[in-house]
Parts: sequence; structure tokens; C-alpha cells
Amino acid sequence: MDIVTAITGASGALYAQRFITGLVAAGVRVHLVISPLGRRLLHDELGMESPDLPALAGTPSHTITLYNYNDVGSKLASGSFLHDGMVIVPCSSNTLAECAHGLGGNLISRAAAVTLKERRKLILVHREMPLSPIDITNYQVLTQAGAILAPANPGFYLNPTTVTEVVDFVAGKLLDLLNIPHALDTRWDPKNVRPPVKLD
Ligand SMILES: Cc1cc2nc3c(=O)[nH]c(=O)nc-3n(C[C@H](O)[C@H](O)[C@H](O)COP(=O)(O)O)c2cc1C
Repeated sequence: MDIVTAITGASGALYAQRFITGLVAAGVRVHLVISPLGRRLLHDELGMESPDLPALAGTPSHTITLYNYNDVGSKLASGSFLHDGMVIVPCSSNTLAECAHGLGGNLISRAAAVTLKERRKLILVHREMPLSPIDITNYQVLTQAGAILAPANPGFYLNPTTVTEVVDFVAGKLLDLLNIPHALDTRWDPKNVRPPVKLD
């Protein structure tokens, strides 16, 4: 499988890392684009001076190809590149708006526009709180265009005790949406209910 993945400047770089690790573990070829603010998030939240592909993949023998954000002549900008879906994780309100308006001035919005026109799966992991009326309008426009809005909105019904478990909930959901098998322990199982979490 080939999955296009984009990282933009919304908080939640850990979601991107866990999702990409899951793709690589499943043998998926990852075609990665990172916006300038996405690079800043990788620095601020993951401590990466520049994109560290083995660290994002969780293994030195990774299957990630990094593309230039400004190269709208790249193969990801063309409908003739066949892929199995595109995920923007995390997705800023800025990129959400670009996608909702069909803009194509950078490789992320262009690849998203192409994914929609080719009727392939486009998943946007938007992170913002609260939502503005403009965000909500953009959700509706994109949903009607065929995109899947999967906001970074972890559930707590599995009673997570670590940040890793909270992140895994979202990453596992994304892999499920793409029908990619994973070993993340993110499924509700009434036979395996954990005790409620007590806050400090
Ligand atoms: C540390 C930091 C955290 C941010 N978090 C968010 C966020 O969670 N959601 C969001 O929509 N924008 C967030 N922003 C603002 C975006 O990065 C900004 O709007 C930027 O233009 C997005 O560009 P991009 O869509 O090309 O990545 C954040 C910016 C910084 C510097």
C-alpha cells in the first residue's frame, strides 16, 4: 500500500509519529510532506532539529519518502500517482481551510485536492479547540466533498493511564479507517475493562 501523509502546524506531533510507525510496521510505503510549521511542531513536541525519518518510523529500515512542501510538480501533485489514501495528521485550521477551498499552492493542499478529485480517501485529523464557525463550515464542505473529518479527539473509555495510550487511541482509529492492521491496544473489550483512572 501507498499512503500519503502530511504533518502541519497543529499541536499533536505524537499522533503523526504513532500513525507513521503503525504504517511502517504494516509494510506500507509512506509518502510524507511536512509544512514549515509542521517542522516547527516536530522540533517543539518531538525534539527533532529536522525530520528524523527513522524516529518517525520507529525503525532504521523505514519505507518513508520525504517530499518538498513547495514542490507542486512532485508526483503527489498528479492524479496519475496511484495511492491508497491521504491523511493530514495533525491538520491545522489553516490547512483545513486550504483543503475546503480547493487551493493548491503547496504540495499538501494540492495532494489533498487531487485525492478528492480522484475520489480517494482523504482523512483530516484537525486539532483546534474551540472550533470557529469557519472551521465548522469547512468541516461540512469537506465532508460533502467526500473527505473524512477525524478530529484529534481521543476517547477515555479504555481508561488510559499514559500519554502513549491516549495517542494510540487516535492512531489506531486512523489505521482502522484505512483498513490497515495494527497491534495498538485500542479496542473496547467488555471482558477486559480496566479500573477508572484517578487524577493526581
Ligand atoms: C506551537 C504552535 C502550536 C499550534 N497549534 C495549532 C493547533 O493546534 N491548531 C491549529 O489550527 N493551529 C495551530 N497553530 C497555528 C498554525 O501553525 C498556523 O496557523 C500555521 O499557519 C499553519 O500552517 P500550516 O497549515 O501550513 O502548517 C500552532 C502554531 C504553533 C507555533
